[in-house]
Parts: sequence; C-alpha cells; structure tokens
Amino acid sequence: MSATPPVLALPEASDDLSARLTDGLERVERMIHERARNDDEFITEANLHLAQAGGKRFRPMLTMLIAELGEGVNDAVVAAAAGVELTHLASLYHDDVMDEADLRRGAPSANARYDNSTAILVGDLLFGTASDIIADLGADAVKIQAQTFIRLCSGQIRDDRPCPAGQDPREYYRGVLADKTGALVATAARYGAMYSGSSPELVELATEYGERLGIAFQLADDLIDISSESGETGKTPGTDLREGKRTLPVLNALASTDPADAELQELLGSQLKDPARIDRALELLRAHPGLAAAREETLAMGRDAVEALAPLPASDAKEALIALMEGVVHRVG
Ligand code: IPE
Ligand code: IPE
Ligand code: MG
Ligand code: MG
Ligand code: MG
Repeated sequence: MSATPPVLALPEASDDLSARLTDGLERVERMIHERARNDDEFITEANLHLAQAGGKRFRPMLTMLIAELGEGVNDAVVAAAAGVELTHLASLYHDDVMDEADLRRGAPSANARYDNSTAILVGDLLFGTASDIIADLGADAVKIQAQTFIRLCSGQIRDDRPCPAGQDPREYYRGVLADKTGALVATAARYGAMYSGSSPELVELATEYGERLGIAFQLADDLIDISSESGETGKTPGTDLREGKRTLPVLNALASTDPADAELQELLGSQLKDPARIDRALELLRAHPGLAAAREETLAMGRDAVEALAPLPASDAKEALIALMEGVVHRVG
C-alpha cells in the first residue's frame, strides 16, 4: 500500500486519531484488493494496475475523518470509503484516455500500458465493482452514488468542450470543477457522516465542506499542472495546455489587457502540441499574475470549506479537517 504523502499526512492529528485512520485506510485497501480480484489473471492485473502504482487515498481519508465527527469508523464506513475510491479510480482510467495522458501515479497510464479500449472497459468494470460494494449499503447509498457519477461525467464531458457562446468562461470552468471533482469529494464526506450515526444536520454540513474542499482540490490540481514537476505529481506537467484545457490561470492570462502578455496569449490561443512551445507557455504562466490570482481563489475556496465546519465544537477530528484543507490548498502533488 502506498504511504500517505506528507502534504496530506495530517500534522494536526493526535496519535490515537492517526492510528485509527491508518487502520481504517488499511481496511479500505484490503477491500479494494479483494473486490478487484477476478478469475481472469489479466483483468486482475489491469484492475489493480493504478491502485498498486500509488495514489494519495484522499477521498477515503476524508470519509474516515468525517466519520470521526460521529461514532467513528465501522464496516459501513469502510465499504463507503472503498466504493468512493473505486469510483475515483474508474474515473482516472477514463480521464487518461480523454486527456491522452501517458503517466499516472508515476506509472504508465492504463491507456499507455494497454490501449484505450482496455482502459475504458477496466474503468467500467471498476465502476461496476464500486456499485457492487455501495449496493450493500442500501438504496440511499446507491442513489447518491448514481447522482454523483452523473455529475462527475457531466463535468468531464463539459471539461472536454469549449465554453458555450454567451457564457462567462470562468463561471463555466467553476461549474465544471464542482461537477467533475466537487461532487465525488462531497459524497466521500457525506457517506462518512451518514454511516457513523451522525445527525442530518451534520450530514449536510459535511457534504458542504466536502463539495468546497473538492473544488479547492481541483483548483490546486490545475495549478499543479503548471507549477509542479513530474516527480512530485506522478503526472506529466503541461498536460492541460497540450489538451487545450482552459483552466483558471489560463483564463486569467487570456483576460489580461497588458500588451506584455501578447506572446503568452498567442501561445494559449494556438494548438499547443510542440513541446518547446508548451515549455515556453509554462514558463510565462508560472510568472504571470493570473497564476497568483488562481492561487488566491484556491485559498479562498479552502477557507470557505472550513467555514462550513464553524457550527461544530472543537475536537481532534475538526482540527484534522482544517489541517486537511491546508494540505489540499498548498499541495504540490
Ligand atoms: C486526480 O485525483 C484527479 C482529480 C480529481 C484532480 P487525485 O489527485 O486524488 O489522484 P490520486 O488518487 O492521488 O492519484
Ligand atoms: C480529472 O481532472 C478529474 C476527474 C474527474 C478524474 P484532471 O484531468 O485535471 O485530473 P488529472 O490531472 O489527470 O489527475
Ligand atoms: Mg487528466
Ligand atoms: Mg481530465
Ligand atoms: Mg489535472
């Protein structure tokens, strides 16, 4: 199992809480491995390819931490967390086909290692496995997962298309982020509250925290594509630029009226396939105030997430959720 990287390692968590989280995450990991096994050896290998390559396990960690606000981790919380991570994993197999990405979790993406058809079908199979696990939690859980996946896919479809005429591109982008990433992170939090005996008020508050945290998580991911190195992320920097994705830093730079931005705007307005031109665009973007403004928006969304926790009394779990937000907005991988 991969270690939790330091950025999301919860420096605020007490020893007791850390031990319970580690134990819960190990149970999730075992469940993923057991359920991803198949009679066919190749399918087992392809199912586990990315799970074994690494990954932060941010979503199951969130489910566990939110459960700590209630009565803590139990079998249902573990199953919910495993179902969420498998849903996420399935979306990564599909995302790398869409984004023509060749590196994921420091390993060849499934499309690079096998081919597009295999990556799509294994993603579907893993989504089926997630649904199978979630179904044991009952009809409410299945409905939430279904609605979450509809939002996730709707976000991914819109992410792959230009902003429609007449819409503000930055508003379009924010809506895409909420759906493609906020929805599943919100569900990770929601399940944590639902299956730990929490009140309906706590379920609602946790869902709101999760949605905002998820948006901050994706805002940070889009910064990372510009400012981090492959060794930190396990992904190829500049993938969004190569795919023509207009993330917030790019939209901010395109909106600039400063004549000094002409070269960057020309690069961003063109099909960026030449690696030298991608590198030049990355260099200019890293120094551009539009990147700093996007960073500010990320921090503000993180603060909004924590704001949702305001009604809760002080506790170890609440401190850890605040630390989790800090880790998310400042992460480099
Ligand atoms: C990547 O998610 C896809 C996004 C929603 C940004 P993660 O950054 O959680 O990927 P892993 O699971 O750690 O590999
Ligand atoms: C993907 O966003 C979000 C998903 C729903 C999987 P990205 O395309 O930015 O994710 P990475 O950077 O490839 O992990
Ligand atoms: Mg991608
Ligand atoms: Mg993508
Ligand atoms: Mg990305």
